[in-house]
Amino acid sequence: MLAVYVAHTNADEPLAGLVVGSLDEPAVPPGWTTVEVRAASLNHHDLWSLRGVGLPADRLPMILGCDAAGVDADGNEVVVHSVVTSDAWRGDETLDPRRSILSERYPGTFAERVAVPRRNLVPKPPELSFAEAACLPTAWLTAYRMLFTRAAVVPGSTVLVQGAGGGVATALIVLGRAAGLRVWATSRSEAKRARALSLGADAVFVPGARLPERVDVVAETVGAATWDHSLKALKPGGTLVISGATSGADPPAGLNRVFFLQLSVVGSTMGTRDELERLLRLCVERDVRPVIESERPLEDARAAFEALAAGDVFGKLVLTR
Ligand SMILES: NC(=O)c1ccc[n+]([C@@H]2O[C@H](COP(=O)([O-])OP(=O)(O)OC[C@H]3O[C@@H](n4cnc5c(N)ncnc54)[C@H](OP(=O)(O)O)[C@@H]3O)[C@@H](O)[C@H]2O)c1
Repeated sequence: MLAVYVAHTNADEPLAGLVVGSLDEPAVPPGWTTVEVRAASLNHHDLWSLRGVGLPADRLPMILGCDAAGVDADGNEVVVHSVVTSDAWRGDETLDPRRSILSERYPGTFAERVAVPRRNLVPKPPELSFAEAACLPTAWLTAYRMLFTRAAVVPGSTVLVQGAGGGVATALIVLGRAAGLRVWATSRSEAKRARALSLGADAVFVPGARLPERVDVVAETVGAATWDHSLKALKPGGTLVISGATSGADPPAGLNRVFFLQLSVVGSTMGTRDELERLLRLCVERDVRPVIESERPLEDARAAFEALAAGDVFGKLVLTR
């Protein structure tokens, strides 16, 4: 079948090992089923995989892609929850120490078909297109859990979103707005700052800018490049919620500020199946839709990867069949 996969990893030139070609159908273990993929979206995770982060050589070739929407073996339209737990695990899937997400241990979603545990299938609401639904299980689910579960935001709070253009960041802006937050955002790009405003951000800033006042919550996916600003932006007692470190994971410490201002630094990873169902309901009931930069056929995956690697993206890049 047609698939987009990592043939070999390269830390400096991630696209060097990217192949759009033919691979065997995925194995279907007991309790698993196959989904015909109609749409799948790129995540920064796919670039990490191409760099070899979390993907050792003995698992190659590995089909990329963490999230998908498609049609299951019974003809149902489904969204794929990407967090695969060990068989015996019960409860919050993100807390299973043996969890992985599709494309780490098991083949991912950038293919004609993907094998997934049956319990990872969630009905796709008819109101959402396949492309829209395919944006939700990684970037949007991560943003949902960051805001509502881990940072436990309340309406009327102010949240600062760092790096407005990203898949997770655009989701944070839209979901924050839908939940009655005051949303501020930073971006390196003037054009992306303008787009963040049109998406519903209440104010935008260049990274590191002095803010009109301190905020209740900072939502971080950028890491080293914005960490210092994030700590300085928080009110005493505020919360920094972090799910990624695109620019580097070794930030300057700022530890004095953490204890003196009694800040909380909270980690967040992906989301549960229940959270994905609630996110889908929120999208339907409040007419919230993912921000899609472009849709391309699976065959044209390389062009989408080039845009992602160049940071030349606002929202999500979707591959369709
Ligand atoms: N823990 C989890 O479960 C989880 C889930 C999803 C994502 N993540 C992580 O979160 C991060 C974002 O993911 P994504 O898919 O949203 O990525 P993405 O779409 O590629 O977005 C990355 C964004 O980072 C911003 N950025 C700001 N300063 C940067 C710098 N110095 N260098 C590079 N980027 C910079 C950019 O925003 P501007 O151009 O607007 O400045 C860019 O749009 C990734 O590291 C990813 O691995 C983690």
